[in-house]
Amino acid sequence: MDIRQGRVSNPPSFRSATMMRFHVLTLFPEMFDSPLSVSIIARAQKQGLVEVNLHNIRDFTHNRHNTVDDYPFGGGPGMVMKPEPLFESVEHVRGSASLDESAPTVLMTPQGRRFDQRIAEDYSELSDIVIICGRYEGVDERVRQNLVTDELSIGDYVLGGGELAAMVVIDAVARLIPGVVGSAESPANDSYTTGLLQHPLYTRPSEYRGMEAPDVLLSGHHAEIAKWHRRETLRRTLERRPDLLESADLSNEDRRMLDELRAE
Ligand code: ADE
Repeated sequence: MDIRQGRVSNPPSFRSATMMRFHVLTLFPEMFDSPLSVSIIARAQKQGLVEVNLHNIRDFTHNRHNTVDDYPFGGGPGMVMKPEPLFESVEHVRGSASLDESAPTVLMTPQGRRFDQRIAEDYSELSDIVIICGRYEGVDERVRQNLVTDELSIGDYVLGGGELAAMVVIDAVARLIPGVVGSAESPANDSYTTGLLQHPLYTRPSEYRGMEAPDVLLSGHHAEIAKWHRRETLRRTLERRPDLLESADLSNEDRRMLDELRAE
């Protein structure tokens, strides 16, 4: 696969029932090389559970200098991504016979709605997502109005472009696709999957430089361990993200523990 060629980078492939395909439109496809070539996401691609097709927006220009940006009408700082290459690249991708018509076209932009685990869960059920990586000051408004179905931000800060943000989305979504993460690494208990932060973790050695892992975790008492996990999950959330407790699914026992933790 040579993504520098742009266009469809992987040959048309057999698509399993649960395969998810990301179609990324970017001016810098090479930025995706390393993140996609290691660990869980690399394995998921090899297993045919995930496909990431990179398309170079510059390949859809027709002018001599392959210009993709221009000055903003009315003046102002920076450059604007021109509509033509974006319209053509999105049409190219969406026109592919195998692309699910209902697939969203997502623009990565600091102006978008804040990406979170719930959005990742929703996206993980789709078969295709088209992602546009914005650059410069932003994209021509006609792109937003006519092509884009969803705008996502990964946080309240401005990146040099949407590529890193797209990688964050791909990573978070891909690991929720059934089979991508083994049961031993199950995302079911991840922070945020449960709406709460994860409890502290310990591994061997049980004592390190005089610091001991909690006895209960070594006790083999499953019920006691589960109780400790829940309590520490609640403690951590209370300490760091009390706002999450407002929308979390809490049992009466959770509420009792929280009262105790607040009193501590
Ligand atoms: N592009 C630049 N900054 C971004 C952000 N915070 N989220 C998504 N896309 C971006």
